[in-house]
Amino acid sequence: MKRQLSASAALLTAVAAPAVHAAGSDMLRLAMVGCGGRGTGAMMDALSARRGLKIVVMADAFEGRLSSAWQNVNDMVSGTDGAAGWFDVPAERRFVGLHAYEEAIACDCDIVALCGPPGFRPIQYEAAVAAGKHVFLEKPVATDAPGVRCVMATNQIAKSKGLSVAVGHHLRHEVKHKEAISRIHDGSIGELKYMRIYFDDSGIWTRPRQANQTELEFQVQNWYHFVWLSGDHICEQHVHDIDVANWMAQGHPVRAIGMGGRMRRDPKTSEIFDYHAVEFVYPNDVRAFSFCRQIPNCWNSFSEHAHGTKGRVDIEGHGAATVTMDGQTPLRVERGPDGHRLEWEYFLDSLRNGKQQFDADWATESTMASILGRMATYSGAEVTWNDAIQSETNYSPEWTDWNSEPKSKPDANGNYATAVPGVTPAL
Ligand SMILES: NC(=O)c1ccc[n+]([C@@H]2O[C@H](COP(=O)([O-])OP(=O)(O)OC[C@H]3O[C@@H](n4cnc5c(N)ncnc54)[C@H](O)[C@@H]3O)[C@@H](O)[C@H]2O)c1
Repeated sequence: MKRQLSASAALLTAVAAPAVHAAGSDMLRLAMVGCGGRGTGAMMDALSARRGLKIVVMADAFEGRLSSAWQNVNDMVSGTDGAAGWFDVPAERRFVGLHAYEEAIACDCDIVALCGPPGFRPIQYEAAVAAGKHVFLEKPVATDAPGVRCVMATNQIAKSKGLSVAVGHHLRHEVKHKEAISRIHDGSIGELKYMRIYFDDSGIWTRPRQANQTELEFQVQNWYHFVWLSGDHICEQHVHDIDVANWMAQGHPVRAIGMGGRMRRDPKTSEIFDYHAVEFVYPNDVRAFSFCRQIPNCWNSFSEHAHGTKGRVDIEGHGAATVTMDGQTPLRVERGPDGHRLEWEYFLDSLRNGKQQFDADWATESTMASILGRMATYSGAEVTWNDAIQSETNYSPEWTDWNSEPKSKPDANGNYATAVPGVTPAL
């Protein structure tokens, strides 16, 4: 978070004037919903793109998150030229609560960015498109199959209205991913046979339970640890690599088997697995071997690899890519600019040029593939895409306010249950 702050601030101060549209009604107006780590980073990335964008609305479930995000962005723009033209979010356009997104969407804005927990994404996206806004969706776009179907329906409406929808799969914009994957598609490594994808790291935060906090409030504060909100880390985080596998294979998996479990997480604060290992099967029997883990002191990797009949491609998420073709010197492609900023440059340029950008179809497939993988690891069964996408399992509670009851609650000992392979149903 700190790193993003200073990098973006440096970018803003290094350039003398906004690149395209200086001020006034010509500015694109952005409403940010979900002002945590990524929401704040996305505001900075969007401003750093310098495409005539102005942030005019902010909304978050919690007052503290909203005010610290406002302060961080305000600090970043303060002292830079044109600051007032870029960031104009007075108190009356700062909204707090579970329904804050509705107030944000109702404001006079061109783009709504949805950067809160993915469990809320389907309804927030539906509302933004109904209001005729262009949308930036963080990934994943849903956490279960009913959510995916809701997003698919909204995608159709957005397209018919000519709205642009960008999705925060920043790897799609990284120079080294584009170059390396084009080499797979142009046949440089022969016929694609299998892929290996990894998101293994040490873990994620927990926010301690507070006195007088309702169960729903605790879960939303700790959204990562609850399936209805995050989809588990195979969906929340590993979806980046699963998306790259879909991109490499030019489609989605048709079935999956997998295994996983919860060994290290505290059952008093979390219901998700620590690790998932999945074999995804794509058309033509192409396989993707997928591994994600959140356990400290283990081997870590954030990378994607493709193996063909005449070579291979190796891509480091935060580093360079290497294309190795049989009999030739390996080609190394450096990372280039951060995809988080590039994704805003492309999105804002497309809006400026009146060209509809629509990332949501492939991004919805990637989210669904990650849910397919979770169904396989939670159940231990082989699961097909066609069955998975029709699943009626809806993890989300019917919520209206902070007193609404989540579906999963701690047992008498204060522990949250987790999935049990061989017992938990696949669908
Ligand atoms: N593309 C990337 O590289 C990347 C990186 C990190 C996170 N993300 C994604 O961004 C999203 C947010 O992750 P984060 O790391 O910023 O988490 P975070 O916990 O830091 O922020 C989430 C914010 O959403 C708020 N929120 C919760 N419920 C809300 C609601 N109903 N309406 C409005 N706001 C609500 C929270 O209070 C919090 O401020 C996730 O989908 C995550 O997967 C993407």
